[in-house]
Amino acid sequence: VVNRSTSVRAHHLLNSEAQVVLNRPQALNALCNALVTELNDALSHFDKSRSIGAIIITGSEKAFAAGADIKEIAELSFSAAYSEDIVALWSHLANNIRKPVIAAVKGYALGGGFELALMADTLYCTSDAMFGLPEIKLGVIPGSGGSQRLTRIVGKSKAMELILTGEYLTGKEAGEWGLAAKVITGGREELLAAAIKTAEKIASYGQIAVLAAKEVVGKSQELPLREGTEYERRLFHGLFGTADQKIGMTAFMGKKRPVWSRI
Ligand code: HXC
Repeated sequence: VVNRSTSVRAHHLLNSEAQVVLNRPQALNALCNALVTELNDALSHFDKSRSIGAIIITGSEKAFAAGADIKEIAELSFSAAYSEDIVALWSHLANNIRKPVIAAVKGYALGGGFELALMADTLYCTSDAMFGLPEIKLGVIPGSGGSQRLTRIVGKSKAMELILTGEYLTGKEAGEWGLAAKVITGGREELLAAAIKTAEKIASYGQIAVLAAKEVVGKSQELPLREGTEYERRLFHGLFGTADQKIGMTAFMGKKRPVWSRI
């Protein structure tokens, strides 16, 4: 356990996974500055830890996160928002974390909470989860990548509808829309069990290949097809310089289980 705070609980699970639990129940995990800083610290800690192969971010029964802390930002002026570059530190997950991250969502994932989940590499949710970008109801717009990431995933028409109306969609719909990789019909326990199972599987593979796989899929969201394909090929070539490539392919040919190198 690497707890240093009250609003984020960070645990090293039994095997090679870590779980980061947003824990500010009095505000439905609204993402105040302190919470985001603690979240970023926990993510950096696990990203650097050699014994961790995958990270799960989750919330409570009622909320993954209900968005930016409205009470904290309500009085901000433009010049303060701009000069302090508020919410810039929210992008730490998307910009700096190299290990795979699974968002496990039950309850509300609204505004910045939804945007945080969209920064994860894959998203699991319960069928009754509630996603939305209700910023329009507050006189603002998504500010942490939501308009860009959501649109890339679900297309313009659906993203426009959600962002312009501020309406919610359920976890079940998130699955149908391709936002969620898995929709769990059950409670938080079943959701976390599914996320942990996947995290364990990811953590059981050669970790250089895992990092490379995350990196190239990430690039697909940013590069034109040709550049992305060439980027992928360079990393693919590079993996032939790793022990794990020899270990994996030799094990296959010998009909054995690979024992991956430790990095
Ligand atoms: C601050 C919040 C909050 C938030 C909830 N709370 N969401 N505080 N910021 N985003 C607080 C409430 O004020 C209340 O505190 C306590 O949490 C419980 O919330 P209730 O509203 O009483 O619960 P409920 O009636 O069950 O309604 C749940 C809810 C509602 C539908 C999720 O709380 C809600 O609409 N929250 C705001 C959601 C939102 O607009 N998010 C987008 C924020 S803007 P008290 O002290 O009164 O008991 C944003 C911009 C991101 O995210 C830009 C980039 C980062």
